Amino acid sequence: MPEKNYTIDALELGPMENFVYLIQDHASKRAAIVDPAWDAPKAIELAKSKGYNITDILLTHSHHDHINGIHDVLDEYDAELHLLKQEAEFWGNDDARPSIHYGGDDIVLGDTSIKILHTPGHTPGSACYHVGDDLITGDTMFVFGCGRCDLTGGDHEVMFKTLNKIRTDLPASTVILPGHNYAVKKTSTLAEQIKGNPFMHHHNVQDFVQYRMNTPKRKSPYEAEPDSSCGHDH
Ligand SMILES: [Fe+2]
Repeated sequence: MPEKNYTIDALELGPMENFVYLIQDHASKRAAIVDPAWDAPKAIELAKSKGYNITDILLTHSHHDHINGIHDVLDEYDAELHLLKQEAEFWGNDDARPSIHYGGDDIVLGDTSIKILHTPGHTPGSACYHVGDDLITGDTMFVFGCGRCDLTGGDHEVMFKTLNKIRTDLPASTVILPGHNYAVKKTSTLAEQIKGNPFMHHHNVQDFVQYRMNTPKRKSPYEAEPDSSCGHDH
């Protein structure tokens, strides 16, 4: 296996078990911070201690618990803020002056290319970031869970389509890096999620919507659940 040209570090910060990720491009010593929130200075310290310069801020979505450290980063760095057009419109924050993207765009961080995927359902402009074989999923997919769809801007049916698209478009070996540490393990693979994530077990939109609506809050830590739909007609 060739060595990766990037490293991703995860920091679990704040009262809601948020993961803040630091994508570090080895060649350029540039770093992108994903969803800077809560004790974001800890992530800044980590970047500094490893000799990386934070040049980019990537948002999976605009909920408070994923963005409340943006200014800590901007106080230190002249970093570019990235998000999808649909989320910029949903957020309505004119002061942020983000660089606007469309699903499928590549964000270049030195020798590392990061693809921004439009994955609506939790919010209209929720994004996942695909780099190498890693997928930073925000609140779209948790390990053995998925984000709520009953908050403003959420849409159950759209989430069903989004999860299906992730399942069909990405390799099963993709590593899932979620937005919160809600499960028995911090990361997973897409293969393991297809098998054990109850939100990946529904084969028609009605079943998914009913299940998602009936389980607004599951007991954490989330664990793998058997796929009871296997072997049945859908
Ligand atoms: Fe959220």
